[in-house]
Amino acid sequence: MKQAIDWAQARREEHLEQLKQLLAIPSVSTQPEHEHDLVRTANCLADHMRSIGLHGVSVHSTDLHPIVYGHWIKDANAPTVLIYGHYDVQPPDPLELWHTPPFTPTVRGDNIYARGAADDKGQLFAHLKAFEAFMQTAGQPPVNVKFLIEGEEEVGSPNLAGFVADNRDRLAADISLISDSHIPAPDQPALVYGLRGLCYMEIKVQGPDHDLHSGSFGGAVQNPAEVLCQIVGALKDERGRITIPGFYDRVVPLSDEERAELNRAPFSKDQFRSEAGITKTWGEVGYTVLEQISVRPTLDVNGLVGGYTGEGGKTIVPARAQAKISMRLVADQDPDEIRRLFTAYVESLAPDTVQLTFRNWGLAKPALIDRSIPEMQAAARAYARAFGAKPVFMREGGSIPVVTLLKEELGLDTILMGFGLPDDNIHSPNEKLYLPNFYRGIEAAIYFLSEYAQV
Ligand code: BES
Ligand code: MN
Ligand code: MN
Repeated sequence: MKQAIDWAQARREEHLEQLKQLLAIPSVSTQPEHEHDLVRTANCLADHMRSIGLHGVSVHSTDLHPIVYGHWIKDANAPTVLIYGHYDVQPPDPLELWHTPPFTPTVRGDNIYARGAADDKGQLFAHLKAFEAFMQTAGQPPVNVKFLIEGEEEVGSPNLAGFVADNRDRLAADISLISDSHIPAPDQPALVYGLRGLCYMEIKVQGPDHDLHSGSFGGAVQNPAEVLCQIVGALKDERGRITIPGFYDRVVPLSDEERAELNRAPFSKDQFRSEAGITKTWGEVGYTVLEQISVRPTLDVNGLVGGYTGEGGKTIVPARAQAKISMRLVADQDPDEIRRLFTAYVESLAPDTVQLTFRNWGLAKPALIDRSIPEMQAAARAYARAFGAKPVFMREGGSIPVVTLLKEELGLDTILMGFGLPDDNIHSPNEKLYLPNFYRGIEAAIYFLSEYAQV
């Protein structure tokens, strides 16, 4: 193991160059024009996985983007870790805010800037390098390793459930390991044991069948943009509570201990404000900021369009308006039930002068993982060895749909051992990865395999 660490440390420059190749492909899963780029990324990963010695490397096409799989089985009786990652990325827009182009990976100071650097190509790649480190030194990893890498995470993993159900034996494992989250500070690792779920909806409000002159028609035609604003405005009250009837019914109340522990986590409100670029926080009354962003459900408008938004003016009553709205869910809320409650409530708010259509852009169940399992302790030791500090336990506000999927289909608990940072700008312009943590991430992954072999 010492040799594996030394091997990785001696090859940092080479690993960075390899990561750059992966980051240069614009694998934006939500945009159809990038379909071929996702195929290219999947093939590039598969080639790389073969070159580092993984067996059974295969690229599986789905209705959308391919899934890549590969393994190393040293002994059928040895414990098996299933390492998951995603090679798809969020759209890079707005492009004009990037200091260097999103798919021209650029090192500035201690960071590498590119879309996907932290979410999730860089974090995923660290595990491939950890595996390779063992292959190059010990000749094999200390446990069985399986890699499951998908290209649809950022669109809610619509085809992963089918693949997992069809490949139960191939994917059988004892534990799952994912690096796709962040830690509070460069020297403070964190094991994430809770993730929020998601219900992502789109509402279209159709008024007249074409845009109308607002002088000739305005006043006697209900304006769909106004209807949409009224609907959106009615979804939350002034205390930040979501008004959808039944929305909170299944939320598991937090114990006083959990609340106390959660609020002991290192967190600075000033830093949060500066990362967000705001002067004042706003959220559900009665909860701390940390609670608001991790253990409470939320509703956010992600996008709102309608009517004329170009340069200058255009006097019309628009024909339609549209909003994208995401709700973050916590245990035990069910995304499908929330979808029904949302749709019914929005329908009840709309007047009969307009037509509503709904679309769903993703459902993910919330996840809560038992912190007392031995693999969690193995990960804690691995983190401590790589980062020189014991990890804290955290619940995160983001969603990773595969976590509940692996629990339900394969009975697997997941260790969320991330190494991104809060200011990595994931999903934003100038996404980056802090390079010292990329290297420490490789080391933490090496230590985990070795610690896990002794569990
Ligand atoms: N890696 C993130 C989730 C995440 C973010 C975990 C921050 C922990 C901290 C993941 O790639 C992501 O963005 N997921 C989407 C899922 C959705 C599209 C179903 C999300 O949370 O918006
Ligand atoms: Mn991710
Ligand atoms: Mn993401």
